[in-house]
Amino acid sequence: MNKIRVGVFPAAGLGTRFLPATKAQPKEMLPLVDRPLIQYVVEEARDAGLARIVIVTGRGKNAIEDHFDTSFELEKMLEEKGKNGLLEQVREVAEIMPVSYVRQKQALGLGHAVLQAKDLVGNEPFAVLLGDDIVDAEEPCIGQMMRLYERRGNPVIALQEVPRAETRQYGIVAGERVEERVVKITDMVEKPAPEKAPSNLAIIGRYLLPPEIFTILEETKPEVGGEIQLTSALKTLLSRRPIDGYLFEGRRYDAGDKLGFLKATVEFALKRKDLGGPFREYLKGLKL
Ligand code: G1P
Repeated sequence: MNKIRVGVFPAAGLGTRFLPATKAQPKEMLPLVDRPLIQYVVEEARDAGLARIVIVTGRGKNAIEDHFDTSFELEKMLEEKGKNGLLEQVREVAEIMPVSYVRQKQALGLGHAVLQAKDLVGNEPFAVLLGDDIVDAEEPCIGQMMRLYERRGNPVIALQEVPRAETRQYGIVAGERVEERVVKITDMVEKPAPEKAPSNLAIIGRYLLPPEIFTILEETKPEVGGEIQLTSALKTLLSRRPIDGYLFEGRRYDAGDKLGFLKATVEFALKRKDLGGPFREYLKGLKL
């Protein structure tokens, strides 16, 4: 079995759920405390042992490339001013892991975004990580999935139980529980109405996929609105081989949504050694 080494980060979306903040800046760069959202997910990939990542960008996303690049002027200024702590933090960001970029020229859906990474991934299994989904976990979510993949050899999709009323926001799977955290997937429906949803098990933005998904995506017909859905390609993959759903350990935040982002901000700030204490005091004083 091939080891998973590459992570693909679709980051070309328009961020409409977060307008107007995302009118002129990528949603992936919205800061959670003091790091942009995408950095948390890149660090998750690194912590799980991935060797390199491919970020699929688009128009207006240059800030992402600048963030993971060396900033010569900034480093020089911090060095001259003797701000060594900040200098180290700035340098570390550029050294998290090797990053390559490819552009998605048109916003034609998540499946189409993943397809853009085909040449940079090559003929090996790979991970897909969506930057909206921030998972706070002891063991990185994608790393938990890699362990399952090494054990069972099937493609893996992260799952989470959601309230029935929210099925319209997610891909929803049908399946049977084969282990405490493993579901053998039998069907998938993209964003069904609650009464049509086959379960309350939602697809969360972490996937481990075989390279054949690229040829499937090339043959996948666009849905209404012209978008090529990843879920449609996964359904085709499911007709050819078993796919495991994995109920990960950890807490997931939908940081692409305003309320989810606020929850993540509060909880991440409370966990910080430097901010947690005073921030907790402040919140207590609000007398809600
Ligand atoms: C995408 C997928 C969906 C999945 C979700 C997870 O939707 O199409 O199946 O449940 O990510 O975050 P999006 O949120 O990009 O509309």
